[in-house]
Amino acid sequence: MLDRTQIQCIVEHHGKEIILHEHMRIEQNSYQHGVVTTFAHSIRVACLSVWLADRMHLWNRVDQRALVRSALLHDYFLYDWHEWDNGTHRLHGLTHGQTALLNASRDFQLGSVERDSIARHMFPLTPIPPKYLEGYIVSLADKVSATRETLSPARFTKPRKHSRRPRLQRA
Ligand SMILES: [Fe+2]
Ligand SMILES: [Fe+2]
Repeated sequence: MLDRTQIQCIVEHHGKEIILHEHMRIEQNSYQHGVVTTFAHSIRVACLSVWLADRMHLWNRVDQRALVRSALLHDYFLYDWHEWDNGTHRLHGLTHGQTALLNASRDFQLGSVERDSIARHMFPLTPIPPKYLEGYIVSLADKVSATRETLSPARFTKPRKHSRRPRLQRA
C-alpha cells in the first residue's frame, strides 16, 4: 500500500507539467471552498484519487498518469467563482467542467480519459456520467475533498491567499 510520501511523489511525477504551468497562479489566487484555494483543492483531489485507486486495488484497471492529470485539471476553469461578474458564474456548478476542459485542452495535450474525466466530474449534478473508471474516482475524490473543505472549521478564520505554491496536502 502506498504511503503519503509515495502518493505525493506520484502526483508530482505525473503532474509536474501541470503544477508548474503559469496558469496555476490563477488557481493559487482563487478560493474554491472556504479558505482552500482551487490549486490546493486540486492537489488534494489528485492525492485522494491515487489513495482511492490504491486502496481499492485498481492499478490493473486504472491509468495512473491519466488519473493524476485528470484530478489536477478537473477544476481548471481559471476564475474565482465567488467574484461578482454580472451573473456569468451563476451556473458555475453546471458549466465549469466544460470550461475546465476547454482551458486544459488549450494548455496541455490530453488523452480521451483525461478529457472525459474533466468534463464529467460534476456527475450527478450534470447528467452525463463519466465514461472511464478514472473519471468516477476523480468525481468521488472531488466530492469527499469538497465536503471536508466546506465543513472545515478553518473556513471561519480570516482567509489568506497563497503567494507561493503550497506544499502538497495530506491525501
Ligand atoms: Fe468541480
Ligand atoms: Fe473540485
